[in-house]
Amino acid sequence: TEVKDIPGPRPFPLIGHIPYVLSSNPFERMIQLCRRYGGLFRLQLYEDSVVVVTDSDIVEELLDENRFEKRVVGILDSIRPIAGDGLITARNDEENWARAHRVLKPGFGRRAMSHYLPVMIQTTRKLVDRWAKLEGEWLDVNTDFTRLTIEIIGLCGFNYSFNCFEKERLDEFIETIDSILSEATISHQLPPFINRLRPGANKRMRLNQEATAKIFDRIVKERQAKGEWNHHDFLAMMLHGRDPKDGSQLSEENIRYQLISFLIAGHETTRSLLSFTLFFLSKHQTVLDRARTLVDQVFAEGDRDLSFQDLSRLSYLQQILNESLRLWSTAPAFMVGPKEETILRNGYRARKNDTFFIFLAGLHRDPKIWGQNPERFDPDRFAPEAVRVRPAHGYRPFGNGKRSCIGQHFAMTEAQIALAYILYFFDIEGDPCYELKIDHSLTIKPKNFYCRVRKRR
Ligand code: HEM
Repeated sequence: TEVKDIPGPRPFPLIGHIPYVLSSNPFERMIQLCRRYGGLFRLQLYEDSVVVVTDSDIVEELLDENRFEKRVVGILDSIRPIAGDGLITARNDEENWARAHRVLKPGFGRRAMSHYLPVMIQTTRKLVDRWAKLEGEWLDVNTDFTRLTIEIIGLCGFNYSFNCFEKERLDEFIETIDSILSEATISHQLPPFINRLRPGANKRMRLNQEATAKIFDRIVKERQAKGEWNHHDFLAMMLHGRDPKDGSQLSEENIRYQLISFLIAGHETTRSLLSFTLFFLSKHQTVLDRARTLVDQVFAEGDRDLSFQDLSRLSYLQQILNESLRLWSTAPAFMVGPKEETILRNGYRARKNDTFFIFLAGLHRDPKIWGQNPERFDPDRFAPEAVRVRPAHGYRPFGNGKRSCIGQHFAMTEAQIALAYILYFFDIEGDPCYELKIDHSLTIKPKNFYCRVRKRR
């Protein structure tokens, strides 16, 4: 085939395609552009450019780790000041990535999960108690799921409670992290010369970063001072664990970066997965009824908490969560680039410093994989027999290969438990007038989505 340059809309002078990114509905805009350009187009963002990809054939090629690798640019680069060489923002060649990956991997395995299960259940019960008291009121779903996921990651990560269920206002510290993420989103959409003219914002960012580092240094120091070994959290694993390869340990600074990374990666994504799932369930009564029948059966077997065996019998809930992640992947994209200049199968030239932005809302609607009605919410798409015959590259909500999500199993277990308890204890009603709007920073969520619950028991 003939070698071609990657196509794209004509850029505006100086600002390139920034108006697309800043439009009121950038997601819909991107999906339209992908359709127009056949699933691949270049966007110019000031001096940089990214290639947005949604076509599943091209994505399949980009997932080849021999030729392409994760890129830490754009928004990922802008959170490096707080997340440093922690797992998410580490560059591939940084030694600490592989070391931390080896030290932490067992912390996400089956054995470790058995320590987190009771914590997840106890925390979910706090959410149930809260909602029982608020019966009949419109609940701010995003904020309440933030309470849940922050508590779970705080307790499982470093045995720390932010007291999210004891206070109406979320911990100041969570607001600090939120404002760092929003500022990172804003600043990376503005031209560098404008950013330099925002001393107030830059100063606030620096102070917030310092405050965050201080809190985590304190958490680490306090644990060290206690000298306790009997915790089964990520912090214990990092303080006491040794790299199986060379016996080395993680530095204090790196441990701080990891804790912040887990908090960032681990709470918003799962929170929004639960919000989107309630949104879909509030619109799909038959799916909800089927899920509830199963949940009622499992709970009916005795007054006890759910076990891992119960969860595997509730695999339909996983299907619902997977389908929700298909339509609205809460980590909306991941980025890769070629290790060397290369030509894609369809003849497009990929230059060495090109960044490919694998845009999941588009990939997950590719009719080649998902058929002619990809917008339809249908958890049966994730029935085992359907998954078996579908190419795996059409569904990538957790990224790819060695840099894929280490917390995938953790997140899905947490979300499945929350969903099971909510369905068991409550009838849910969404606002019938609600129209889905996507709110985005590092992750996406359904904007201003409220629900009402009624106790079933
Ligand atoms: C990486 C999605 C929950 C920790 C990733 C990546 C994606 C992702 C797409 C790849 C990023 C990239 O290629 O740049 C999600 C989604 C979640 C979720 C959709 C929930 C539904 C979690 C949780 C944790 C976590 C609960 C921690 C407890 C991480 C870490 C990485 C990562 C540490 C970096 C892995 C590495 O490069 O070594 N996640 N995530 N995630 N995630 Fe998650």
